Amino acid sequence: MNLRSIPRDSDRAAVLAVVKATGFFSGEEEAIAVELVDEALARGPASGYEFLFADAPDQPEKILGYTCYGPIPGTQSSFDLYWIAVTPTGQGKGLGRRLLLATEEAARRRGATHIYADTSGQDKYVPTRAFYTRMGYQAEAVLRDYFAPGDDKILFSKAF
Ligand SMILES: CC(C)(COP(=O)(O)OP(=O)(O)OC[C@H]1O[C@@H](n2cnc3c(N)ncnc32)[C@H](O)[C@@H]1OP(=O)(O)O)[C@@H](O)C(=O)NCCC(=O)NCCS
Repeated sequence: MNLRSIPRDSDRAAVLAVVKATGFFSGEEEAIAVELVDEALARGPASGYEFLFADAPDQPEKILGYTCYGPIPGTQSSFDLYWIAVTPTGQGKGLGRRLLLATEEAARRRGATHIYADTSGQDKYVPTRAFYTRMGYQAEAVLRDYFAPGDDKILFSKAF
């Protein structure tokens, strides 16, 4: 399966379906995930949001997972991984690894020296934190109570 970088209109619904299916994100976060697609559709690379989509085989307009990333404004060569999600039936089969490595490679080609990924300190995110650690990311900082009282932000990073 090839990864696709050019967003299309059907990705609004496809991204929403994947982020909903994970059960990891609030309604507000789901809306933001779709807004990032809208921005990329409307403004292209000028939006600052780049995507990689893993299309579902034999299911046009569906995706199995995706990443959204881009250069962090005001930095020389730091990139943000804004989103990574793999649909539950596709998880644990290497797709997240493939998407993340391809994202890192694309960012590096654009001059990235560092990539940053935020996640939550909640127990629900133990697997997500294990994934980042396994992928060579370091937990650089903990911002206590960032998302809500009792819900810390963990900032992971990888240097190339
Ligand atoms: C996090 C996520 C993207 C990982 O995708 P995935 O396809 O399940 O991950 P992979 O199968 O490619 O696993 C990649 C590596 O991480 C490790 N890993 C993945 N889940 C793990 C877990 N629960 N515990 C320990 N290690 C784990 C795998 O063992 C694998 O390492 P290996 O290749 O050396 O064996 C996916 O599970 C997901 O969408 N989760 C819900 C949404 C989410 O948390 N997104 C991030 C928001 S901050």
